Amino acid sequence: MSRRKAYAAGNWKMHGLGADLGELTSIARAASGCPGQTTVLCLPATLLDRARATGVTLGAQDCHASAEGAHTGDLHAGMLADAGAAYVILGHSERRSNHAETDAVIRSKVLAAWSAGLTAIICIGETEAQYRSGQALEVLAKQIAHSVPVAATPQNTVIAYEPVWAIGTGLTPEPQEIAMIHAAIRKELPDPRLSILYGGSMSPQNAAEIFEIDDVDGGLVGRASLKASEFIPILQALDTAKGAL
Ligand code: PGA
Repeated sequence: MSRRKAYAAGNWKMHGLGADLGELTSIARAASGCPGQTTVLCLPATLLDRARATGVTLGAQDCHASAEGAHTGDLHAGMLADAGAAYVILGHSERRSNHAETDAVIRSKVLAAWSAGLTAIICIGETEAQYRSGQALEVLAKQIAHSVPVAATPQNTVIAYEPVWAIGTGLTPEPQEIAMIHAAIRKELPDPRLSILYGGSMSPQNAAEIFEIDDVDGGLVGRASLKASEFIPILQALDTAKGAL
Protein backbone atom coordinates (compact mmCIF):
# COMPACT_ATOMS: atom_id res chain seq x y z
CA MET A 1 0.00 0.00 0.00
CA SER A 2 1.48 3.28 -0.99
CA ARG A 3 1.63 6.13 1.49
CA ARG A 4 -0.39 9.28 0.77
CA LYS A 5 1.59 12.13 -0.76
CA ALA A 6 2.88 14.68 1.77
CA TYR A 7 2.68 18.37 0.84
CA ALA A 8 4.27 21.51 2.23
CA ALA A 9 2.13 24.09 0.44
CA GLY A 10 2.75 27.81 0.83
CA ASN A 11 0.01 30.37 0.26
CA TRP A 12 1.49 33.81 -0.37
CA LYS A 13 -1.98 35.40 -0.61
CA MET A 14 -1.69 39.07 -1.74
CA HIS A 15 1.98 39.30 -0.86
CA GLY A 16 5.11 39.24 -2.98
CA LEU A 17 6.90 41.30 -5.61
CA GLY A 18 9.66 40.36 -8.01
CA ALA A 19 12.18 41.32 -5.36
CA ASP A 20 10.89 38.51 -3.12
CA LEU A 21 11.59 35.70 -5.59
CA GLY A 22 14.98 35.05 -3.99
CA GLU A 23 13.13 33.39 -1.11
CA LEU A 24 11.89 30.78 -3.58
CA THR A 25 15.35 29.84 -4.76
CA SER A 26 16.35 28.92 -1.21
CA ILE A 27 13.07 27.07 -0.64
CA ALA A 28 13.51 25.11 -3.90
CA ARG A 29 17.01 24.07 -2.90
CA ALA A 30 15.87 22.88 0.53
CA ALA A 31 12.85 21.09 -0.95
CA SER A 32 14.99 19.11 -3.36
CA GLY A 33 16.92 17.76 -0.35
CA CYS A 34 13.65 16.51 1.22
CA PRO A 35 12.29 13.93 -1.23
CA GLY A 36 9.72 12.58 1.25
CA GLN A 37 7.49 15.59 0.65
CA THR A 38 6.35 17.84 -2.18
CA THR A 39 6.73 21.59 -1.76
CA VAL A 40 4.26 23.78 -3.68
CA LEU A 41 4.28 27.58 -3.55
CA CYS A 42 0.94 29.18 -4.42
CA LEU A 43 1.88 32.66 -5.58
CA PRO A 44 0.06 35.73 -6.84
CA ALA A 45 -0.53 35.20 -10.58
CA THR A 46 1.76 38.16 -11.35
CA LEU A 47 4.76 36.19 -10.10
CA LEU A 48 4.09 32.75 -11.58
CA ASP A 49 5.94 33.09 -14.86
CA ARG A 50 8.95 34.76 -13.28
CA ALA A 51 9.04 32.16 -10.51
CA ARG A 52 9.53 29.25 -12.92
CA ALA A 53 13.25 29.86 -13.02
CA THR A 54 13.53 29.12 -9.29
CA GLY A 55 12.59 25.49 -9.94
CA VAL A 56 9.96 25.37 -7.21
CA THR A 57 6.62 23.65 -7.96
CA LEU A 58 4.05 26.42 -8.42
CA GLY A 59 0.39 26.92 -7.66
CA ALA A 60 -2.14 29.71 -8.09
CA GLN A 61 -4.71 30.88 -5.54
CA ASP A 62 -7.97 30.94 -7.52
CA CYS A 63 -9.30 30.52 -11.05
CA HIS A 64 -12.47 31.33 -12.94
CA ALA A 65 -15.00 28.56 -13.49
CA SER A 66 -15.14 29.16 -17.25
CA ALA A 67 -12.60 28.10 -19.84
CA GLU A 68 -12.40 31.62 -21.29
CA GLY A 69 -14.66 34.54 -22.05
CA ALA A 70 -15.73 38.08 -21.25
CA HIS A 71 -14.74 38.24 -17.58
CA THR A 72 -12.71 41.39 -17.06
CA GLY A 73 -10.01 40.96 -14.46
CA ASP A 74 -10.40 37.19 -14.08
CA LEU A 75 -8.01 34.40 -15.02
CA HIS A 76 -8.94 30.97 -16.30
CA ALA A 77 -7.20 27.81 -15.23
CA GLY A 78 -5.51 27.34 -18.60
CA MET A 79 -3.85 30.75 -18.23
CA LEU A 80 -2.46 29.75 -14.85
CA ALA A 81 -1.15 26.47 -16.24
CA ASP A 82 0.38 28.41 -19.13
CA ALA A 83 2.14 30.70 -16.63
CA GLY A 84 3.67 27.74 -14.80
CA ALA A 85 1.12 26.61 -12.18
CA ALA A 86 0.54 22.91 -11.57
CA TYR A 87 -1.79 23.44 -8.59
CA VAL A 88 -4.50 25.93 -7.67
CA ILE A 89 -6.01 26.70 -4.27
CA LEU A 90 -9.81 26.80 -4.49
CA GLY A 91 -12.39 27.70 -1.87
CA HIS A 92 -10.01 29.39 0.55
CA SER A 93 -12.03 30.95 3.37
CA GLU A 94 -10.87 34.41 2.28
CA ARG A 95 -12.39 33.77 -1.17
CA ARG A 96 -15.52 32.29 0.43
CA SER A 97 -16.01 35.39 2.61
CA ASN A 98 -14.53 38.24 0.51
CA HIS A 99 -16.08 37.06 -2.77
CA ALA A 100 -19.14 35.19 -1.49
CA GLU A 101 -17.98 31.95 -3.11
CA THR A 102 -20.41 29.11 -2.50
CA ASP A 103 -19.63 25.39 -2.49
CA ALA A 104 -21.31 25.13 -5.90
CA VAL A 105 -19.06 27.85 -7.35
CA ILE A 106 -15.99 26.18 -5.85
CA ARG A 107 -17.01 22.83 -7.30
CA SER A 108 -17.32 24.35 -10.78
CA LYS A 109 -13.88 25.93 -10.38
CA VAL A 110 -12.45 22.53 -9.42
CA LEU A 111 -13.82 21.04 -12.64
CA ALA A 112 -12.30 23.93 -14.62
CA ALA A 113 -8.95 23.40 -12.91
CA TRP A 114 -8.99 19.70 -13.73
CA SER A 115 -9.80 20.43 -17.38
CA ALA A 116 -6.65 22.55 -17.57
CA GLY A 117 -4.57 19.80 -15.95
CA LEU A 118 -4.20 21.55 -12.59
CA THR A 119 -4.43 19.76 -9.25
CA ALA A 120 -7.01 21.49 -7.04
CA ILE A 121 -6.20 22.22 -3.41
CA ILE A 122 -9.75 22.48 -2.05
CA CYS A 123 -10.06 24.34 1.27
CA ILE A 124 -12.71 23.61 3.85
CA GLY A 125 -13.09 24.87 7.40
CA GLU A 126 -15.54 26.00 10.03
CA THR A 127 -15.88 29.52 11.45
CA GLU A 128 -15.29 30.32 15.10
CA ALA A 129 -19.06 30.48 15.78
CA GLN A 130 -19.59 27.08 14.13
CA TYR A 131 -16.67 25.64 16.11
CA ARG A 132 -18.00 27.00 19.41
CA SER A 133 -21.49 25.67 18.79
CA GLY A 134 -20.19 22.17 18.02
CA GLN A 135 -21.15 22.28 14.34
CA ALA A 136 -17.68 21.83 12.84
CA LEU A 137 -18.10 18.26 11.57
CA GLU A 138 -21.51 18.96 10.11
CA VAL A 139 -20.21 22.07 8.31
CA LEU A 140 -17.19 20.22 6.95
CA ALA A 141 -19.29 17.29 5.70
CA LYS A 142 -21.55 19.74 3.86
CA GLN A 143 -18.61 21.59 2.32
CA ILE A 144 -17.12 18.29 1.13
CA ALA A 145 -20.41 16.98 -0.27
CA HIS A 146 -20.97 20.16 -2.30
CA SER A 147 -17.49 21.32 -3.27
CA VAL A 148 -15.48 18.12 -3.83
CA PRO A 149 -16.56 16.36 -7.06
CA VAL A 150 -16.95 12.58 -6.78
CA ALA A 151 -14.29 12.08 -9.45
CA ALA A 152 -11.59 13.47 -7.10
CA THR A 153 -8.42 11.36 -7.02
CA PRO A 154 -5.03 11.82 -5.30
CA GLN A 155 -3.70 12.96 -8.69
CA ASN A 156 -6.18 15.79 -9.25
CA THR A 157 -7.16 16.84 -5.72
CA VAL A 158 -5.69 17.73 -2.34
CA ILE A 159 -7.87 18.75 0.62
CA ALA A 160 -6.84 21.49 3.05
CA TYR A 161 -8.60 21.69 6.40
CA GLU A 162 -8.30 25.26 7.64
CA PRO A 163 -10.37 26.27 10.66
CA VAL A 164 -11.24 29.89 9.82
CA TRP A 165 -10.56 30.95 13.41
CA ALA A 166 -7.00 29.61 13.19
CA ILE A 167 -6.01 31.51 10.02
CA GLY A 168 -3.62 34.35 10.76
CA THR A 169 -4.55 34.40 14.45
CA GLY A 170 -1.73 32.44 16.06
CA LEU A 171 -4.36 30.01 17.38
CA THR A 172 -4.46 26.32 16.44
CA PRO A 173 -6.68 23.47 17.56
CA GLU A 174 -5.17 20.95 19.99
CA PRO A 175 -3.40 18.07 18.18
CA GLN A 176 -6.09 15.62 19.38
CA GLU A 177 -8.74 17.82 17.82
CA ILE A 178 -6.84 18.01 14.53
CA ALA A 179 -6.49 14.22 14.59
CA MET A 180 -10.18 13.70 15.24
CA ILE A 181 -11.29 16.17 12.57
CA HIS A 182 -8.90 14.88 9.89
CA ALA A 183 -10.09 11.31 10.52
CA ALA A 184 -13.70 12.49 10.23
CA ILE A 185 -12.93 14.40 7.01
CA ARG A 186 -11.32 11.30 5.50
CA LYS A 187 -14.53 9.33 6.05
CA GLU A 188 -16.50 11.93 4.09
CA LEU A 189 -14.19 12.11 1.07
CA PRO A 190 -15.14 10.46 -2.22
CA ASP A 191 -11.67 8.85 -2.16
CA PRO A 192 -10.03 8.21 1.24
CA ARG A 193 -6.57 8.22 -0.36
CA LEU A 194 -6.67 12.00 -0.85
CA SER A 195 -4.01 13.94 1.03
CA ILE A 196 -5.47 16.16 3.76
CA LEU A 197 -3.38 19.17 4.78
CA TYR A 198 -3.81 21.16 7.97
CA GLY A 199 -3.76 24.97 7.63
CA GLY A 200 -4.04 27.85 10.08
CA SER A 201 -1.15 29.51 11.95
CA MET A 202 1.27 26.72 11.12
CA SER A 203 4.81 27.71 12.15
CA PRO A 204 8.26 26.20 12.63
CA GLN A 205 7.29 25.88 16.32
CA ASN A 206 4.14 23.78 15.90
CA ALA A 207 4.66 22.00 12.55
CA ALA A 208 6.49 18.89 13.79
CA GLU A 209 3.81 18.08 16.36
CA ILE A 210 1.02 18.52 13.80
CA PHE A 211 2.83 16.40 11.17
CA GLU A 212 3.09 13.52 13.65
CA ILE A 213 -0.67 13.05 13.35
CA ASP A 214 -1.36 10.11 11.05
CA ASP A 215 -4.23 11.68 9.10
CA VAL A 216 -2.34 14.94 8.52
CA ASP A 217 -0.58 14.74 5.16
CA GLY A 218 1.10 18.12 5.26
CA GLY A 219 0.37 21.80 5.71
CA LEU A 220 -1.08 24.81 3.91
CA VAL A 221 1.02 27.63 5.28
CA GLY A 222 0.28 31.34 4.92
CA ARG A 223 2.40 33.84 6.83
CA ALA A 224 5.26 31.43 7.54
CA SER A 225 5.68 30.60 3.84
CA LEU A 226 6.77 34.12 2.95
CA LYS A 227 10.25 33.73 4.38
CA ALA A 228 12.56 30.86 3.47
CA SER A 229 13.94 30.90 7.03
CA GLU A 230 10.48 30.00 8.39
CA PHE A 231 9.19 27.77 5.61
CA ILE A 232 12.26 25.56 5.23
CA PRO A 233 12.07 24.15 8.80
CA ILE A 234 8.40 23.34 8.13
CA LEU A 235 9.07 21.37 4.94
CA GLN A 236 12.00 19.65 6.65
CA ALA A 237 9.76 18.69 9.59
CA LEU A 238 7.29 17.21 7.10
CA ASP A 239 10.03 15.22 5.40
CA THR A 240 11.16 13.88 8.77
CA ALA A 241 7.61 12.95 9.83
CA LYS A 242 6.41 11.36 6.60
CA GLY A 243 9.47 10.76 4.47
CA ALA A 244 10.51 7.48 6.04
CA LEU A 245 7.05 5.91 5.80
P1 PGA B 1 -1.71 31.38 8.04
O1 PGA B 1 -2.64 31.21 6.73
O2 PGA B 1 -0.70 30.28 8.02
O3 PGA B 1 -1.11 32.75 7.89
O4 PGA B 1 -2.64 31.27 9.22
C1 PGA B 1 -2.99 29.94 6.27
C2 PGA B 1 -3.91 30.06 5.09
O5 PGA B 1 -4.81 30.92 5.11
O6 PGA B 1 -3.78 29.32 4.09
